[in-house]
Amino acid sequence: MRITTYYTSESLLVEGGTRLKGRVRVSGSKNASLPVLFATILTEERCLVEDVPVLLDVKNTVDLLTFLGAEVSWEGNRVQVDPKDIKRWDTPKDTVRRMRASILSMGPLLSRFGRAVVPMPGGCSIGPRPIDQHLKFFSEAGARVEVRDGKVFLDVERKRPVEFTFDLITVTGTENALLYLTGVEGRSVLRNVAIEPEVMDLIEVLRKMGAEVEVEGRTVLIRGTSAPKGFTHRVIPDRIEAGTLMVATVVTEGEVILDNVNPEHLGAVLEKIEEVGGVVEIRGKDSIRISSNGKRNPLEIITGEYPGFPTDMQAQFTAMLSLAEGRSRVVETIFESRFHHVAELSKMGANIKVKGREALIEGVERIFGAEVHSTDLRASASLVIAGLVAEGTTLVRDIYHLDRGYERLEEKLKKLGARIERLPSKVTLSGS
Ligand code: EPZ
Repeated sequence: MRITTYYTSESLLVEGGTRLKGRVRVSGSKNASLPVLFATILTEERCLVEDVPVLLDVKNTVDLLTFLGAEVSWEGNRVQVDPKDIKRWDTPKDTVRRMRASILSMGPLLSRFGRAVVPMPGGCSIGPRPIDQHLKFFSEAGARVEVRDGKVFLDVERKRPVEFTFDLITVTGTENALLYLTGVEGRSVLRNVAIEPEVMDLIEVLRKMGAEVEVEGRTVLIRGTSAPKGFTHRVIPDRIEAGTLMVATVVTEGEVILDNVNPEHLGAVLEKIEEVGGVVEIRGKDSIRISSNGKRNPLEIITGEYPGFPTDMQAQFTAMLSLAEGRSRVVETIFESRFHHVAELSKMGANIKVKGREALIEGVERIFGAEVHSTDLRASASLVIAGLVAEGTTLVRDIYHLDRGYERLEEKLKKLGARIERLPSKVTLSGS
């Protein structure tokens, strides 16, 4: 029987069965690059951001800065921004639909212009993802906040310092508040903040811009400035890309050296990598060697805010644990519905039961190649990982999700020996 199938977006074709071997450099962090690029809105001076990964979310951010009036030049992993001619404070209606992190334009636009108009973000496949905490902060800081016609209208007469406690820990909520307060003189205090490495990297930049920032546990004291300065900054390595490549190495029982990693950002992940049967060798301050002792131990994983186990690594571990010897339990405490990869992994023979925020994984001997769908950024990565270790060929469809958050992942994997190809959109496949 001949099957001819048409694919409307790009796909990855993955041949299972190779052990990853070799050395690869991890890219700069996506989730540090985005807030740092939005910070350039705060100043009229030139800024240079280095080691920025070349991916869709960065392109969306560069396009938005250009729309607002900044002069942006982006060569390789260097982004130069001249923000002096930014005149607009309203962002296009499709901005947030294309990239929800565009909500990070609120804080800097409101800080620089006293007003901002940003589309209200919808939910996405991993959950409703409200921004009530962001808006609550802005109103407590004295801004008028109005949501109408699917947009958020913010304006503030006179900027003043504020003391604010988040009701829950939110990464971009914390970042939006810090961006805004960098342009507010006087002593402000934020409590119950997120302390992810990406937030700390943004704080480094805000200090370079002239803000005084002290961090004590989950409390931040910040004194902003009326004239934030330009800066040069190299973003931290992408700990989630590093973790993703570690899982791919262990599950294929390979042996890989990762350069440009910060082991301190990966504590919880490294512990679980060792527990599952990985062997971790820290090689100085920015290189890690990963291999496997051949074991496939089941695990219990409960995601949590940093320094807990990162939700962005949950899907990748779920793929690996599908092949563990025994039952694993994964609890997703951060997002409401971040198990879409489970249905796809099941098509490959995984045995996983999801109940609410908990997944019970009965390890199986082997999984088989299949045609699977990406639903969100990290789910796509988990399907690629499953494809590397499945018997036969896996077709991972709709990989624009992957391109949003990983810089040329398939090239990195190919360099490590994986048999993986990107298929152009509108490809037709015929199987026997
Ligand atoms: C950031 O998203 C990351 N994105 C996410 O990475 C990451 O998964 C997430 O933090 C958690 O670590 C960027 O940094 C660009 P949250 P963010 O606000 O800030 C609820 C990836 O894969 N919440 O910390 O949107 C929210 O619904 C992406 O790179 C409210 O209820 O996450 C969620 O359940 C995916 N009200 C929880 O808090 C709010 O006002 C954590 O969300 C804000 C958040």
